Amino acid sequence: MKIFVDTADLNEIKELASWGILDGVTTNPTLVAKSGYSFTEVIKKIFTLVDGPISLEVVSEQAPDMVKEAKKLVASIPQKYRKNVTIKIPMTAEGLKAVKILSEEGIKTNVTLVFSANQALLAAKAGATFVSPFIGRLDDIGQEGMQIIEEIMEIFVNYDIETEVIVASIRHPIHVIEAARLGADIATVPPGIIRKMVTHSLTDAGIKKFLDDWKKVKK
Ligand code: E4P
Repeated sequence: MKIFVDTADLNEIKELASWGILDGVTTNPTLVAKSGYSFTEVIKKIFTLVDGPISLEVVSEQAPDMVKEAKKLVASIPQKYRKNVTIKIPMTAEGLKAVKILSEEGIKTNVTLVFSANQALLAAKAGATFVSPFIGRLDDIGQEGMQIIEEIMEIFVNYDIETEVIVASIRHPIHVIEAARLGADIATVPPGIIRKMVTHSLTDAGIKKFLDDWKKVKK
């Protein structure tokens, strides 16, 4: 399973990329606002840090405006990084129209704010490169989020649908394991959760014991 980082924090992206585990990045307006960087700074730097799909979200609501905004974003990225530009489009009827146009023009899209298997199916039919079901937000309202990943994976396998599934709105490391067990293509994971995935108390205790014992070894 590919791992994307779900953040616009450039320092975090740089650090996690150095671990050799990142396959892409997803951002959204909330994450950019939280990062403290301007959108211009983010788009200038982010493509230099990770060589994989980088999702940037449009904020227009009508299809023609979304398409215009998407094309402007693509044009603002230096040619050598353009293959990685992915336009995040919200899951609405207008969003589907925009996805259809952008996919026909060879621009990658990530349909975001997906909360049901039906929405994922429609996004895929419109030509989305990726769909992002938000499982944590479903858990938050008392609906088992991972259930829709199971449904989407089953449907996409049944019909050989090429659209890749990005499990999004991940809240804890178990979500990542469940996504991988269900065969999801990608999990987009906040930096704090990636850090939790690295550590284990037994690893720390084991390192401490080895280092303590090493001091007793005659050299
Ligand atoms: C995905 O692309 C979104 O940026 C993200 O996963 C949203 O997660 P949240 O529900 O924690 O805001």
